[in-house]
Amino acid sequence: MPDGVVPPQRAYLQIDRVAKRFGRATVLDALSLDVAEGEFISLLGPSGCGKTTLLRILAGLLTADAGRVTLAGRELGRLPPHKRNVGVVFQNYALFPHLTVAENIGFGLRARRVPKAEASQRVARGLEMIRLAHLADRPVTQLSGGQQQRVAMARALAVNPALILLDEPLSALDRKLRETMQVELRTLLRTLRMTAIFVTHDQEEALALSDRIAVMNAGRIEQLDGPRAIYDRPASPFVLDFVGLSTMLHGVVERVDGAMLEVVTALGPVRVRGQFVRGARVVVAVRPEKVAIGAGAGAAQSGAGAGAAAGGNTATIRVADRTFLGRSCLVHGVAGEGDRVVIETSNDAGERVVPGSDLLVSWRAEDTLLFPQVAG
Ligand SMILES: Nc1ncnc2c1ncn2[C@@H]1O[C@H](COP(=O)(O)OP(=O)(O)OP(=O)(O)O)[C@@H](O)[C@H]1O
Ligand SMILES: [Mg+2]
Repeated sequence: MPDGVVPPQRAYLQIDRVAKRFGRATVLDALSLDVAEGEFISLLGPSGCGKTTLLRILAGLLTADAGRVTLAGRELGRLPPHKRNVGVVFQNYALFPHLTVAENIGFGLRARRVPKAEASQRVARGLEMIRLAHLADRPVTQLSGGQQQRVAMARALAVNPALILLDEPLSALDRKLRETMQVELRTLLRTLRMTAIFVTHDQEEALALSDRIAVMNAGRIEQLDGPRAIYDRPASPFVLDFVGLSTMLHGVVERVDGAMLEVVTALGPVRVRGQFVRGARVVVAVRPEKVAIGAGAGAAQSGAGAGAAAGGNTATIRVADRTFLGRSCLVHGVAGEGDRVVIETSNDAGERVVPGSDLLVSWRAEDTLLFPQVAG
């Protein structure tokens, strides 16, 4: 390379336009994703969107039709799985039932012909890491689900992988254990500075664990962003709908006032900042916790001198139902086809809401999200 020429910054893991078809179905559609070393990325998306297929390609269990994958500067190409230095944890753990805990953890080391002394050291370290040293000689079939999950993690990590792939590793666990294991998993991978790709279709899990989330839809990444940005600034109605709840209203831009639009919806006019021409068909949305009962949130923004027109949105909704969540209460409104109205409120305020009655609600214009209506 000539003097003074800086080589382009290469991501630690580069997935470059990877495509896969099964018969006539495109399962991965020229999907690209760059992952930094030590990063924890979640693939989040509905069933069948291609998450497992992508992991299988990265692990070398499946060949892509097109595209390139490089890991730590090495092109994975057609390298067989055991030469990729990639650890995998599957949903069902795929432990070897006839082997003990220690034998399971050491399995990949034997396959890679790691010398015996070093292998037993690494197994001991793995057992320590998952706090199961006292069960080293137990058949894995005699472990609880959470313990089996830990063994699968230790087995995948024992070979010092450059990358670990986790395909819904917690989905078989009950909620309480799952939450404990989430924290444990995250702490463990952080400590090891392990680069991880974690598949889930649980949005809360993805929001809680990830450095960045890739929201997938039909073989493509629809948005790649930090958890906060995914939730606060979803890039499309699909992401909005898939991650978290929201009131979602179809409408038409009726007035353009500088950067402020007025959209006519089934709930009346909604003010939102954006750039659409008059007559454009759009979707406006607001997260449940941004909506207040009463006119407060809408009016609070007007301020002295700003005038009511600069303020927020108010609407009267017909209450359909309410659901008690524990920490708070959701109020569901009657909505037209394709629309949805949902408001989060305190338990006490929720108690006072009567299904079938009308309720005045408000939210700030700046908390209103705006998307083009997708044709079809
Ligand atoms: N070997 C195969 N032959 C044919 N079709 C397949 C094969 N493997 C996967 N598919 C199809 O590819 C699509 C994507 O499957 P994939 O397992 O990647 O989805 P996923 O996102 O992991 O879904 P889930 O959340 O249900 O696990 C599905 O429509 C699936 O039926
Ligand atoms: Mg899957």
